[in-house]
Amino acid sequence: MHRILLGALQKTGRVIFEYLRRVLDRGFGPELNPMNHLGALTIYFFWIVTVSGIWLFLFFKTSVSGAYQSVEYLTHQQWYLGGVMRSLHRYASDGAIITLALHMIREFSFDRYRGNRWFSWITGIPLLWMVIPLGITGYWLVWDQLGWYVALTSAELLDWLPIFSDSMARNFLSADVLSNRFFTLMAFVHLIGLPLFLVFGIWLHVLRINGPRINPPRALMAGSLAAMTLLSFVYPALSQGEVDMTQVPQSLGLDWYYLLVYPLVKAWSPAWVWGLLFGVSLWLFMAPWLPPQRSKSAAMVDLDNCNGCARCSDDCPFGAITMMERSDGLAYEKEAVVDPSLCLSCGLCVGSCPTATPFRRHTALLPGIDMPDLSAAALRETILKVSQGLSGNHRILVFGCEGQKQTAKLKSRLNDKATATVDIICVAQLPPAFLDFILNRDLADGVVLAGCGGGECLYRFGELWTSLRVERQRDPRLRKRVDTQKIALTWQDPWSGLSDVSSVVAALRKSLPETPAAGHVTDENISLPPVRGTSWKLPLTLTAYALFVIFVGWFSVWPRHQLLKQNQAMVSLSFSHAGHRVGDCRKLSQEELNKLPPNMRKIDDCPRERLPVRIIFRLNGKILYEVSRPPTGLWSDGESNIYQRMVIPAGKQKLFIGMIDSNREQGFDYSFEQELDFLPGQHIVVEFNNTLQSFVLIGGSS
Ligand code: HEM
Ligand code: SF4
Ligand code: SF4
Repeated sequence: MHRILLGALQKTGRVIFEYLRRVLDRGFGPELNPMNHLGALTIYFFWIVTVSGIWLFLFFKTSVSGAYQSVEYLTHQQWYLGGVMRSLHRYASDGAIITLALHMIREFSFDRYRGNRWFSWITGIPLLWMVIPLGITGYWLVWDQLGWYVALTSAELLDWLPIFSDSMARNFLSADVLSNRFFTLMAFVHLIGLPLFLVFGIWLHVLRINGPRINPPRALMAGSLAAMTLLSFVYPALSQGEVDMTQVPQSLGLDWYYLLVYPLVKAWSPAWVWGLLFGVSLWLFMAPWLPPQRSKSAAMVDLDNCNGCARCSDDCPFGAITMMERSDGLAYEKEAVVDPSLCLSCGLCVGSCPTATPFRRHTALLPGIDMPDLSAAALRETILKVSQGLSGNHRILVFGCEGQKQTAKLKSRLNDKATATVDIICVAQLPPAFLDFILNRDLADGVVLAGCGGGECLYRFGELWTSLRVERQRDPRLRKRVDTQKIALTWQDPWSGLSDVSSVVAALRKSLPETPAAGHVTDENISLPPVRGTSWKLPLTLTAYALFVIFVGWFSVWPRHQLLKQNQAMVSLSFSHAGHRVGDCRKLSQEELNKLPPNMRKIDDCPRERLPVRIIFRLNGKILYEVSRPPTGLWSDGESNIYQRMVIPAGKQKLFIGMIDSNREQGFDYSFEQELDFLPGQHIVVEFNNTLQSFVLIGGSS
């Protein structure tokens, strides 16, 4: 079941990403296509957040009373710079969530999270747990009505965890109890704590990746910054009114990127929200090890054939090869050593090894590094066998990446004997010497290398390394005697089946000379798939930027979240009260006292545990809330915490609150009854004053 669901999810994801990439390719082109730079764009957006954040910090007052005013000053008085910085700070944070989510879903869809790739996946999950609280604490600090809502809801969530003995939410219910204490803590968490962890987390996340792309191309950086700056001028980020804790706003513009689950805290309960968050995180943590598992053998080094040239180590996309001191006494300085726990069995190292040459006649084909599951020798045999079946004037051999759709689709269409396909792990597994071998031994008249395009290479550098080797720009280079006109490279959608390699085969066949001339040398460009028209480039690119920033801006406040209906008010019960001891005190006898050490002698022996405190809240005679709260503390000897927010109709309402802190069966130890006239949106806090031993109302009544 899991397998089927996973397969369906991944397939859907791949097709969507391929369509998206195709569309964006027409505007941005493959180099600048944002889909290929999602991780790097996330980092870039964090840079914008950092720089704009520093500006905001210079003017920000880290106190309850100063925060709102200082942000208002930046937004309105200094709108041309501070206001823009504030908007950039918000929109870049939102943009980062979009690219981060796409990055994560993309890695999942293209199956780049299993096997030895688990490290990047697993280290990505804590980043989510850092980035989201970073945004949440940011909203808290502004201390407008949204900041109040965020503080209160976050505190309600945290109160469910067994961290604090006292209720944290109580600190945000009325101005009397509000202090700078939490505010300073939030400022520290938002400005120093989380950013430091995030930097460390990102470093760890890309640690195992060879040459991680942490910076997007400059044009993409400039374009994104320009689009976000424009958004900041057109639709500046604003605060949502000063906090008045006696008044609850009817609705708030929520930033759905960071506060998506917040409405659920009230609609469900904190327990369910934590369940959802922990459940999803647990699944993410387990995902790399859930079935289906594919185990492949790691690359193996054959020291007798390794000359220590380090090309494999340079080309390995996952840093799985280290060059070490020679251990076998041969006259080379270094030898390649593969770490099987990092190797993804992609075969790119075989493609880079100069000793992987099929021309050997007298010795077995044993390269310095090889793939046990598809060795260079086995590949040579397959090529020889397949080429024997080729006939006709323009025989073409097509190499494709295993398990993907390009060659599979072609195979199903093949009805001529002039084309054959060979699947290899990744087209970059094929050393350039094999192309020379095929063309100069007249095994075929042309070769098509059909790899996965547009950054979709499962092994990151397959497309790049193959192109550079065939273009003779990276070792091992294709020999000059090979006519590159007989080779077509095509990078197509690997999964969706949208691609059509047959058109590339047909184009290559058409371009081949009537009588193939083996050994013809040319430095002309390699044939590539036809370049699409460019007239749509600019409008498409601008539309993509516009749609992105509209998406960013829209969900940063819309749709609004309704807290109260037009004719509703709110009552919060919030206090701590200690129940009676579970039993009466007993006088110790002289004999019992004598047995005790002198410093522990006391006349009374009182039980430590306390009774729970029971509360009933009635509105016009109807029970709205009823609870029995256990005592806090390890020994159940602390106070019981009572906290509940309730929405009630506005207008004249008869409130009754009864409390039992003893083991009485009937009646109440304390009660309060009064008719109050609630204005729409009015917020009243009911506390129990332990000194006065009575209930008090904060927030006034009319
Ligand atoms: C702050 C958030 C994140 C940032 C800035 C970030 C950035 C990056 C970068 C720059 C790369 C290297 C890309 C390359 O060069 O090919 C990468 C790789 C990766 N990321 Fe993230 N990432 C983040 C969050 C996540 C999350 C939440 C997940 C999934 C749970 C994730 C999963 C991966 C995986 C699996 C790879 C490795 C891809 C491969 O092996 O080809 N990342 N990330
Ligand atoms: S590329 Fe081949 S010869 Fe060079 S170090 Fe790697 S295994 Fe050895
Ligand atoms: S097979 Fe791929 S991951 Fe493994 S060592 Fe070779 S290049 Fe690196």
